[in-house]
Amino acid sequence: MKLFDVYPINDIIIEKALGSNVWDDKGTQYLDLYGGHAVISIGHTHPHYVKRLTDQLHKVGFYSNSVKMPLQEQLATMLGKVSGKEDYQLFLCNSGAEANENALKLASFYNGKKKIIAFRKAFHGRTSLAVAATDNPKIVAPVNETDNVVFLPWEDEAALEQAFQQYEVSSVIIEGIQGVGGINVASESFLRTIRTLCDQHNAVFIADSVQCGYGRSGKFYSHDHAGVQADIYSMAKGMGNGFPIGAISIAPKFQPVYGMLGTTFGGNHLACAAALAVLEVIQEEKLVENAAAVGAYLMEQLRTFDKVIEVRGRGLMIGIELPAELAHVRKELLHTHKIFTGEAKPNVIRLLPSLALTKAHADEFLAAFRKELSK
Ligand SMILES: Cc1ncc(COP(=O)(O)O)c(C=O)c1O
Repeated sequence: MKLFDVYPINDIIIEKALGSNVWDDKGTQYLDLYGGHAVISIGHTHPHYVKRLTDQLHKVGFYSNSVKMPLQEQLATMLGKVSGKEDYQLFLCNSGAEANENALKLASFYNGKKKIIAFRKAFHGRTSLAVAATDNPKIVAPVNETDNVVFLPWEDEAALEQAFQQYEVSSVIIEGIQGVGGINVASESFLRTIRTLCDQHNAVFIADSVQCGYGRSGKFYSHDHAGVQADIYSMAKGMGNGFPIGAISIAPKFQPVYGMLGTTFGGNHLACAAALAVLEVIQEEKLVENAAAVGAYLMEQLRTFDKVIEVRGRGLMIGIELPAELAHVRKELLHTHKIFTGEAKPNVIRLLPSLALTKAHADEFLAAFRKELSK
């Protein structure tokens, strides 16, 4: 059997990883400013994480959601505290798409309505409703097409108000900072308007925090910068530092009913151990504060480069927009300077490193970037 070839890949085999570095099979060291796509939150192979997962594996790795799991309770309590949402409820699943799928479904169960408002350039995942709410026709199969999703221009408050007049809106789903869309930060005023309109029309505010959440923006949820409370927060990537886990954090007004949501693997012992280890390290090492500080430093420095068109983002979720003639820079960073970064089309370099990135790492990147831009 061969692999189903859907990923354009780099010709690199990673064999070892520690903190913000990875090594290939020839022993070459790389600086990882991509974090395996915003997944590595506390750093690769963090000793506390490795120990907690190993210890758990020796006890019990998996049992289904048919028995009591104190680890799930511990995770709910800790996540409630760290995220400042102690009165919310936790539903555990396995990925970002699944988290959004459950969020959209729960919203519709709650208010009995069908229309979903999403925004231009949004990415919410590849499962049926999540992909229908994703603004990329290339990844929407005919069977996923639905007129239950309405796409509105980003940051257009008038269009949003108009949509609420026109449709029976079940939910509004928005990334606090669009990731795949090119690192676009939702303004505080836009997020507040969504909150107000959802309140007025009994619609559910879903904060897709799969990429911009879990401390990456310098606050636990990027939507916190606007001081608004969403009804449901979806999360995944940074939650397990590479162990597959996703979740939704659900406001108290939602009443659970047996069987309403469910999953075989979601919230298993190993996944909970991974997620607890991540939160423990985030707290112990003050990684949200570190993301805010190192991210602010990086953005301030990057804004001094005259060839850069724009620097966007918050914390350690940064987009560097370059002119088309500098589209090769990202490849040079990888092959010449041994630095992994992410991309968003067209010509945006995405930085999504571990939240434990040091100022020295940031300087290493800035020196390489300066060299490339001065060529
Ligand atoms: C904002 C956002 N939502 C949802 C997803 C989907 O997550 P997953 O790939 O874990 O299904 C992603 C993945 O990139 C994302 O960036």
